[in-house]
Amino acid sequence: MNHESRITTRADPLRYLSDELDSLKQDGLYRHLRVLDGEQAARASVDQRSVVNLSSNNYLGLTTHPKLRDRAERATRELGVGSGSVRTIAGTMAIHMELERALAEFKRTEAAVVFQSGFTANAGTVSSILTRDDVIVSDELNHASIIDGARLSRATIKVFPHKDVDAARQILEELPRQPRKLLITDGVFSMDGDLGALPALCDLADEFGCIMMVDNAHASGVFGRNGRGTVDHFDLHGRVDVQVGTLSKAIGVLGGYVAGSRALIEFLYHRARPFLFSTSHPPGVAAACLAALEVLETEPQLIDRLWENTRFFKSGLQALGLNTGTGESPITPVIVGEATLAMQLSDRLLREGVFAQGIGFPTVPRGKARVRTIVTATHGREDLQFALDCFRKVGQELGII
Ligand SMILES: Cc1ncc(COP(=O)(O)O)c(C=O)c1O
Repeated sequence: MNHESRITTRADPLRYLSDELDSLKQDGLYRHLRVLDGEQAARASVDQRSVVNLSSNNYLGLTTHPKLRDRAERATRELGVGSGSVRTIAGTMAIHMELERALAEFKRTEAAVVFQSGFTANAGTVSSILTRDDVIVSDELNHASIIDGARLSRATIKVFPHKDVDAARQILEELPRQPRKLLITDGVFSMDGDLGALPALCDLADEFGCIMMVDNAHASGVFGRNGRGTVDHFDLHGRVDVQVGTLSKAIGVLGGYVAGSRALIEFLYHRARPFLFSTSHPPGVAAACLAALEVLETEPQLIDRLWENTRFFKSGLQALGLNTGTGESPITPVIVGEATLAMQLSDRLLREGVFAQGIGFPTVPRGKARVRTIVTATHGREDLQFALDCFRKVGQELGII
């Protein structure tokens, strides 16, 4: 049999994937990737259309900040484009250590470790600090990276309803005293924009002797003094054992980190699998992150502007009679119910010049599909007013308003 006939007669073992895709299409959940033609910015070009961009996590506009660009460029010229190894072999450069010291200082902890992403920071930490003998008590809306880390740890996973501290207490009361327990919440929930029940969970952690962990991916750079996150916002310093943050959202670059005690960080250096088995950041990434931390200290007006824009836009959506859920952060969902309607709303908004992604099951529960909006410090008032006018027009057209 020649090569060609072998190719044509072979049954496709991945055929079931096409079937899955067909069913996504039938459910109105099939998505084309939207392509940015230029920079990630408040006014952007998406699929060759000029839009007000309400879809990024670029809260402070740092993806295009001149200081970050300069430092990344300089580090790339001086140190090259890659680190060439995993951290534990030859991939720890002085600039990686400098970034970890700066993050620990920023978070007011003894030490910090940087991962390749917020996802690997969560998954790598939860999976390495717990074992099959332990228990994880987790908010039902915690991020996928926490869920995956919990599964990888093989610990018993107990999920409490969203922000239901009484239910978390009941779970803890019913557990035997011996197993090690991790109590874990997002600082800000990414699909609803509400804050985790951190102060009350810290009280529970104290009472039941739990390890307390928070994922501040959407809170760092947004909440707390100079964007130090929810631990600072709620004044809980010293009461949260494991603080995760991302360098990919408000910080504007790429990566994740864990801040905590020196022993925690040293342990992660030895046991966190993404740290051990995946190459470290290029020096330009670390340099840009260092510059971002300086910007947080020297340009707090960016955070003020983020919050002014948040208040203006959220109240504008509410005045239109849209269901904005329980958001308390720059993330404001517009909840419409069925996924097909959310996707229709998103598509129509894009045609009008507003980029706000539709989100359906399984990212959010069935019947709670939405268009998620995120404002940034770099949106102008006219951008946000334009977006509100488009929401009014399209909302009325689709019978949402
Ligand atoms: C709550 C939360 N945690 C962690 C992450 C992962 O962060 P990164 O994009 O840096 O991997 C995200 C990003 O979507 C997130 O929303």
